[in-house]
Amino acid sequence: MTTRVLHTAGKDADPRAIAFAAEEIRDGGLVAFPTETVYGLGAEIYNEGAIRKIFEVKGRPPDNPLIVHIADPEQGIELMQQVPDRYNVLATAFMPGPLTLVVQRNASVLDVVTAGLETVAIRMPSHPLALELIRAVGAPLAAPSANVSGNPSPTTAEEAYEELDGKVAFILDGGRSDIGIESTVLDITGSKPVILRPGMITGEDISGALHEDVLHASEAGEVRSPGVKYRHYMPAVPMTLFAGQNAEDGIAAAAERLIAEGQRVGVLAPERMKRISHTLFYSLGKGATLDYAKYMYSGLRFFSAQQVDVLLCAGIEEEHQGLAIMNRLRKAATTIREIDEEDL
Ligand code: TXA
Ligand code: MG
Repeated sequence: MTTRVLHTAGKDADPRAIAFAAEEIRDGGLVAFPTETVYGLGAEIYNEGAIRKIFEVKGRPPDNPLIVHIADPEQGIELMQQVPDRYNVLATAFMPGPLTLVVQRNASVLDVVTAGLETVAIRMPSHPLALELIRAVGAPLAAPSANVSGNPSPTTAEEAYEELDGKVAFILDGGRSDIGIESTVLDITGSKPVILRPGMITGEDISGALHEDVLHASEAGEVRSPGVKYRHYMPAVPMTLFAGQNAEDGIAAAAERLIAEGQRVGVLAPERMKRISHTLFYSLGKGATLDYAKYMYSGLRFFSAQQVDVLLCAGIEEEHQGLAIMNRLRKAATTIREIDEEDL
């Protein structure tokens, strides 16, 4: 299959892009499309054959359910048994946006979408092309991130092409994803809401909107998301993550030692650390959580294609939005070093 990237901005923009993509999906095909979090790989949710293709193309374990993307909070209601109050409150506060809600599903939702679970995950993205595509298809789209299972999620059309060349007919190019990491996944079916996957909408944000406590999966015992048990976001080179108070000094010391041993060293860190010489450096800008989120996956991909022996990555403070960043970096790492004051 020849994969075409459909540009929707600039000189070579194709005004028919959305129509082509929607037709491909209505015919049972798959299309990669931009969202504000990461690129998704979409299929029509009522087409079982198309959904199976998603799992095939990604090499995704069949027990890992998909998120259903809608163009309006109302459109989610056709998938549910009844509409929880929390859904209405959170839809008003955060839709469109990087929040996915897990609710009880009804019989219209196919088992392949939810991996047989009685719940379904629903999200309304804010990227205008994603919304236009869903509206043009006329049905919700099941869409995981547009990467082969285990790889970092794509945040540009070029990265989606690297993952899916020859496997899908169309990739819609909507520029770099504004946010750059996947949505917060929140289970609202239980007595307390539980964050199954942290994201840029934090527990504090959700708690503020709902006026109730929000738990993280680690605190909630039983409840958990099938996806979180798999390895994710791994670059093709061994990566050491430096966490804790003095992560950046830890990297500088480690880089010096490794270089003296003759190793080729990569560093993924905020711009201010560029002073570490003789390393291949990928900048995370000013190092704020938003900078990390936006450039982190592209950085991991960059080093996958480079001849380095080891990648050193600077961690970030693990609270609020930093929880989501460190959740991904911990999964990407082969080694984690917790560096505090006394270690230096
Ligand atoms: O930002 C995002 O969420 C992106 C964009 C494309 O929307 N999508 C995404 O999808 O990250 P994916 O398939 O890579 O991750 C979906 C996560 C997995 O961890 C999965 O286990 C969880 O959501 N999930 C889906 N349905 C669920 C359900 N019914 N119950 C619990 N967890 C569910
Ligand atoms: Mg994914």
